[in-house]
Parts: sequence; structure tokens; C-alpha cells
Amino acid sequence: MADGARHDIIIRGGTVIDGTGGPRRAGDVAIDDDRITGVGDLSGATAGREIDATGRIVAPGFIDAHTHDDRALLDNPSMDMKVSQGVTSVVVGNCGVSLAPLVMKDPPPPLDLIAGTDGFRFEKFGDFLDEVDKAPAALNAAFLVGHSTLRVGAMDRLDRAATADEIKMMRGKLDEGLQSGAVGFSTGLFYKPAQEAPTEEVIGIAQALKAHGARYVTHMRDEGDNVIQSLDETFRIGREAHSPVIVSHHKVHGKHNFGHSRETLAHIDHHMEHQDIGFDVYPYIASSTVLKDDSIAVAERVLITWSKARPDLAGRELSEIADELGCDIYQAAAQLQPAGAIYFAMDEEDVQRILSHPNAMIGSDGLPHDEHPHPRLWGTFPRVLGHYCRDLKLFSLEEAVRRMTGLTAANFGLVDRGEIRVGALADICVFDEDKILDTASFDDPIRPAAGIDHVLVNGREVWAAGANTGNRPGRALRRGG
Ligand code: ZN
Ligand code: CU
Repeated sequence: MADGARHDIIIRGGTVIDGTGGPRRAGDVAIDDDRITGVGDLSGATAGREIDATGRIVAPGFIDAHTHDDRALLDNPSMDMKVSQGVTSVVVGNCGVSLAPLVMKDPPPPLDLIAGTDGFRFEKFGDFLDEVDKAPAALNAAFLVGHSTLRVGAMDRLDRAATADEIKMMRGKLDEGLQSGAVGFSTGLFYKPAQEAPTEEVIGIAQALKAHGARYVTHMRDEGDNVIQSLDETFRIGREAHSPVIVSHHKVHGKHNFGHSRETLAHIDHHMEHQDIGFDVYPYIASSTVLKDDSIAVAERVLITWSKARPDLAGRELSEIADELGCDIYQAAAQLQPAGAIYFAMDEEDVQRILSHPNAMIGSDGLPHDEHPHPRLWGTFPRVLGHYCRDLKLFSLEEAVRRMTGLTAANFGLVDRGEIRVGALADICVFDEDKILDTASFDDPIRPAAGIDHVLVNGREVWAAGANTGNRPGRALRRGG
């Protein structure tokens, strides 16, 4: 475009990787207001602000497919742990746990992972979205309605199946959430508040999805010995609710299941021929959630991430704590409750095999309120780009970018996101492919990544030169809009 046009911003001299998986190409990117208005040779155009991207990759901003950032959006709107990685949108409300619709003082685990006494304060899902609009964060968010949140709101006891009336009530609440713009319904059938929910209950609630073209997202009942049965349960729910399904943080847990991802991925591939299936994965061999005996039992190492009873023990090994207390690890765990932990219970080869699947979306599953969080909160995206793509060469950079941008936007129905092209919204990450790397570790987890130069959300810069700019251009992304 040598027409002498004037733009708000031109990102000049970089190499564009557009998020579709197509090959990189040299090109400038022009932005006007919140949209991309030019891609290619813009040497004839001028701009109010020029960003020099010489020697850098210009990619769509990353979309974190799996987060628990519901309350962080409101309480920590700078969202440094995400924008410092190049993330420009997050999907919240995963694992059956969403901040709305629920009003409650003392949420049971795992709802307490996202909020304590004052967090659950939205009667209607739309009230939560309106609040995010009123007090925007640095990045965009898409929303899921959580099954456990609905159960806690609708049932007097959680250790049983919901009645027909309760299912109807929860379906109504889900429908209301979807009408306000939620992109789907999540479950955490692995967790206590939902363990007693039979498949039929989930199907009954999920009937609300079809009319909205929304999706079913699940932390499955079992990611260990019975992972294949859990995949089958998930696929059945998708078929009977006539909805796409997304398997959350796909993994196989427990030493005796190591190598089992060969079967799970083959099983997913087989069923993908007949129904719409997606999944996300985080690039680590350790998981993290609330402190639970069944998770301790399959882990080789357990690290405490927070403890209400003993806040001083966050960051310590459970086995050391048990030695000091002179008891076994289960007795020690009981003394820390309520608490959270990191569990080393996965095989590096399984993680690499799952990451390498062309349909694997990248999702952090980071826990933003933990005292000593799993490093995935600050490190997921640079770790995939630096460690797994550049250093281990598991896949091309174009593929790595697609799995954190275009693929994720398509799976969650995020319109005009996840691609660098004229007309798309200007969510952009400029990074150095030689330097990008996670620096957050299990010992020192709160550290911004290396190699991220500029991050723009809706055409506004939110991260530059290693610091947050203070801009808050994020939006609550409504389904279809
Ligand atoms: Zn989960
Ligand atoms: Cu999760």
C-alpha cells in the first residue's frame, strides 16, 4: 500500500505469523482504532505511532484456552501474569467453577480456588459480564458457566444426583448465562461438588447449549485409570446435547498410566471423525489444584501452593512438612486444609505427545490467587514457544502459534480473534523467537517471561519494554460478537 495512508499505529519491519498455520512472511501491520487495517508492505504509509519490529515475530495475541481468572479480571485487572506472556484473551469459568451465577459467603473447594468470602456475588451471569465491562481488565475474556457453581446454587446437598426440578432450574440458569453471552458450559466431574452427578444430569443441563451454538467443556471424571471411559462419557454428552466438546487440560495421571496418551489421542482422533472435539493442554509434568488425598496418592512429589491453616508452609514439600510434624503425608495434609498443591504425576513423553497433536490448544490452567502458584500461571505460552518449539523442535513456530491463537478462537467461537489479517481485531504479540522463554519455575514461580516485546489488546498497548502500560482495553467477549 503506497497510497500515503495514515494509520493510528504501524508495526514495522517484522515477520508476520498469522495464526492460521500458514508460512511466515515479512510485512508491516497497520492498526486503526481496534482493528487491523493493513498487512504487507506499508512503506508508503505513516502512523501516529510506529512500533519497530525488526527481527521480531508479529503474531496474534495468544488466547489462554483454560483459565481460572474469573475474579482476577476484577481484582487484578492489570493481569500481568498473562499479558507478560503475550496473552490477550482468556477463557474463564473452567473445571465447573465460574464466579457467576452464585451468591455465597463460604464456597466449598474447589470453588475456593477462585474466590473466598466476597467473590461470589453475582445473582445473574449477565451481572458479572456487565461488571467486567464497567471495570475492564488489560485483556479480553470469554466466559463459561460452571456446573459446580450451578449445583452449589441449586441444591441443598451435593452428595447426590440432582432431581428433575433441580436439573430444570440449572438448565434455566445456564440458558440465561448463554443468553448474556457465555460461550459454553463447563464441568468438573472429578471434584466433590459434582462427583455424584450422573452423566444424565449433565446431559439434562447441557440441553441448553444447542440453541446458542455453545460448547461443553470438561475437567473429566477421571484422568487416570479410567480416562478412556471418561472420554466416552464426554463424547456421549456432546452427542446427546448436540454440541461440540472440549476436553480440558488433557493428560494421563499416575505412574502406572504413563504412555497411555497413545491410546487417549487415538481414541480422540477416532471420535473426531464423527463429532466436534477439541482439547487443551499445559506444558508441564505437574498438575495443580486443591489439596486432595486421591491426588496425593498418585503423585511422586507434592508441593504446597497455599494453606489457610498454615500460610507459612506455602512453597514447601508435603513430605518435608510431614517429617517435621512427625506424621504421614495424609495426616500432614489434613492439618493444612483448606489448601492447594502441585502434584508431580505425569510423564514427560505423554506431555510432549499431547502437545504435538495438531488439535492441541494451549491453556495454562494457572491459579492466579495461589500464594506459591504452579509456574504455568506465568510461563505456559513462552515455555511452549521457547522450550518445546525452538529448543526441542516438537513443531514449527507457525504451528505453535496456531495452537495458541487461530485454533483456539475457532474452537471457542471467538469472532475476528486469533488471526493477523485485515478486519481482525488488533490483539497482537510482538516477540523475539530467539529469546522467548519462560523464567517462572517451581521454586520461583512469579516471574515474567523473556522475549516478549509488545502486546496489544484491541489496538491498545498493554505490555511494552517489560512492563505493564496501565491501559485497560479488555472486553467481555460475548458469544458470536
Ligand atoms: Zn481442571
Ligand atoms: Cu482448570
